[in-house]
Amino acid sequence: MILLAVPNLAGREGEYLQQCITTTFVSTVGEFVGRFESLVAEASGAPFCVATSAGTTALHAGLVALGVRPGDLVICPSLTFIASANAISHAGATPWLMDVNRESWTLDPDAMADSLERNTRRTPDGLIHLASGRRVSAVVAVFTLGCPVDMDPVMEIARSYGLKVLVDGAAGLGANYKGRAPAETGADLVMFSFNGNKTVTAGGGGALVGHDETLMKLVRHLTTTARTSPDYDHDMVGFNYRMTNLQAAVGCAQMENLDMFVAAKRRIAARYDAALADGNSVHRFPDPDWADSACWFSGIYAPFLTAEQHADIRARLRENNIDARPFWKPMHLQKPYADAPRSSMDVTDAIWPHVLTLPCSTALTEDEQEYVIDCVKKELARAGL
Ligand SMILES: Cc1ncc(COP(=O)(O)O)c(C=O)c1O
Repeated sequence: MILLAVPNLAGREGEYLQQCITTTFVSTVGEFVGRFESLVAEASGAPFCVATSAGTTALHAGLVALGVRPGDLVICPSLTFIASANAISHAGATPWLMDVNRESWTLDPDAMADSLERNTRRTPDGLIHLASGRRVSAVVAVFTLGCPVDMDPVMEIARSYGLKVLVDGAAGLGANYKGRAPAETGADLVMFSFNGNKTVTAGGGGALVGHDETLMKLVRHLTTTARTSPDYDHDMVGFNYRMTNLQAAVGCAQMENLDMFVAAKRRIAARYDAALADGNSVHRFPDPDWADSACWFSGIYAPFLTAEQHADIRARLRENNIDARPFWKPMHLQKPYADAPRSSMDVTDAIWPHVLTLPCSTALTEDEQEYVIDCVKKELARAGL
């Protein structure tokens, strides 16, 4: 089977893991954690980084550090992986779901501005959502497929309403927004995931990066059980969310190959685009002028095929040993978030059933990709495209 996205472990992963075993530093203390944080900080354009056990835990700790309180609403695109919304719930808040734009499949600044304008009022206690009476405290802006959000307008709107901004850049390491790295976009915090299906993995893990030293110290404190001394003193309800040295050992070896991995992802995406997208009935994944996507996943968007046709194509590709998948089912269609407040979802609803993701592991060979392309072409022709 040619799988969708498998880790590329051809670097020094084994050597570094063996060092953890030899030195017995397998837990949250160890040289690789600090080294990994430095590498991620540098690659993302931030002076500070805190490595965590997962991307989800990074989001949760980040929201708490930004002052999101139980009962709050947090703006979040509906088109995301459920972890973005779950982290908001873990902080005791509720996602206020927004549509994405066609250009980037990321949070639509116009939908956000319009929703805020029509549904909130400013008070001395903060921004209040009229229908629910809840405080609106933050925005989670997701880099869909590794493509940056249009951050300038999002930041301008967020700042004008006094909202904090956390970028969920789970798959966005290596992406650029107007030539700026993810942490150079003005967001308060940026999160990355190092889950096994990400371009750079640590087996599992996450990180928060940022520019505000005080805020980043709070993040570190929160993720380390808010411990104030080795003598079991704690001054807050913290979390046990630190990355282990084992994870960081894998992560360090992976980070050494970040540029090569992102280049491979972009090359694979470009080959699919050239071979399959006609700009008419079959489209490439978003490529807005203002972004250099990290191209986490590759594939096609075929809006004229029904969801059933897409399912048939996936099944037949699977019979040919090709792991092709759908993409995120939006949050407003998920049971836990069916009642969450939301904007209209015209674009999200129009996009998500028609996305086909295709094998895009960084070690995918040209021959393997040619085989995938041939099979996909046959399926598209069979479906009448
Ligand atoms: C957009 C998005 N947010 C959050 C996460 C959660 O990260 P993790 O799996 O590391 O908890 C993921 C992926 O896994 C993701 O794709």
